[in-house]
Amino acid sequence: MADTTADAPTETKPKFLSDQVKDEWMGTVYMRPGAPIPPASAIDLDRLNISDPELWRRDAFWDRFERLRNEEPLHYCAESAVGPYWSVTRYEDVMAIDTDHKRFSSASGITIIDLEEDFALPMFIAMDQPKHDVQRKTVQPIVAPDNLRNFEALIRERTAKVLDSLPVGEPFDWVDTVSIELTTMMLATLFNFPFEDRRKLTRWSDVATGRDNPEICPGGEEQWRAELMECLGYFTQLWNQRVNANEPGNDLISMLATGEHTKNMEPMEYLGNVILLIVGGNDTTRNSMTGSVLGMNLFPKEFDKLKADHSLIPSMVSEIIRWQTPLAHMRRTALEDVEMHGKTIKAGEKVIMWYVSGNRDERHFERPNDIWIDRPKIRSHLSFGFGIHRCVGNRLGEMQLKILWEEFFKRFDDVIVLKEPVRTPSSFVKGYTEMEVVLVPKS
Ligand code: HEM
Repeated sequence: MADTTADAPTETKPKFLSDQVKDEWMGTVYMRPGAPIPPASAIDLDRLNISDPELWRRDAFWDRFERLRNEEPLHYCAESAVGPYWSVTRYEDVMAIDTDHKRFSSASGITIIDLEEDFALPMFIAMDQPKHDVQRKTVQPIVAPDNLRNFEALIRERTAKVLDSLPVGEPFDWVDTVSIELTTMMLATLFNFPFEDRRKLTRWSDVATGRDNPEICPGGEEQWRAELMECLGYFTQLWNQRVNANEPGNDLISMLATGEHTKNMEPMEYLGNVILLIVGGNDTTRNSMTGSVLGMNLFPKEFDKLKADHSLIPSMVSEIIRWQTPLAHMRRTALEDVEMHGKTIKAGEKVIMWYVSGNRDERHFERPNDIWIDRPKIRSHLSFGFGIHRCVGNRLGEMQLKILWEEFFKRFDDVIVLKEPVRTPSSFVKGYTEMEVVLVPKS
């Protein structure tokens, strides 16, 4: 049957941003799903919109970033479905902006998609000092070193149980069976969330970042808002239980409900912070878990090295987090005019720090596209950000991955990826929705 997408009427407002597909492969709006993607060398940089979800779904943005780093390290996209924006693609430039809180603000949002004016979700990742700092301090004890040590045994026990339940020698989806299951269990623990309902957390995490993804929100923005309000309803009940508890709980909801600087939050601010903690703790670690299996398949010599020496697991984890870069970008908004590479970013303009490109910058990393599990400067990657917003949960995420691989080697010799994984069509959450694998038991 003929594909009629290109003939869709253009005068009516599209239900989803991704309906704005165009036939032309270099359009400044979104590329048509399945359209040919020419090599970066054939495109006009003036018309490049690197945020196009089709480029991300097909893992086809790498050569574009390489061209940007080499030819136009500060690039302006004047017209796109997410509005005009600057792209910063070199390691040193990303670092400079991420740590320059005086001239670059987080308060107008931290992703390339602008905030909804009539559905504001304040959260501390999208705040500047001083309010950011006091809210961050309220939840930070959850990842204090002592608390992490307490979590370790529980994470190990659950990881072991999930791995023991896997089919051996039969294909299955690693994303749903392992990555989602383990990260959702962790999240339920952090919130002390009813365990049997934990997949609701997975759903809310997907919804929160999937407003424009018809596979996640086929009902568009209306569905997105309705599901987030359902999340608020559920979490409000938990808040009320925790405030009235005799003993103060040691979980994220109790911390927010009793914290000096958070106990009087408006409902939408509570929802915003809950979403932050759900997405922060879920998508990122989940996609690193899947990425680690994919990466070890793509670089088998590194996998052999790891098999021969398990003490390399922690550095392999860091290398995978660099290579995967589970959050491809963070956004800032310029507070004043800033000169960079001979151009001027004007006050109020949107600046995208492409961590995914900085992590492959040949000026900072040797052989940046290779996985090299004991490379120099291994923890200097950008995946956790830098500055006042540096990831709160970075040690927790790393610990979950480390335990996964330690427990894996107690049971299996190998995990073989059977076909190309299905990738998330997003320039923010860089990850996978499906990856078929088969396990090889320990001989
Ligand atoms: C591999 C795993 C993870 C990656 C790659 C990751 C990545 C990031 C990034 C890029 C930022 C923003 C940094 C910036 O703007 O400079 C961030 C912030 C944050 N992350 Fe993570 N994260 C991970 C795991 C976690 C986990 C397990 C939690 C669980 C609690 C978490 C909670 C947060 C929070 C609350 C923030 C906001 C910090 C702030 O604004 O001060 N993250 N993360």
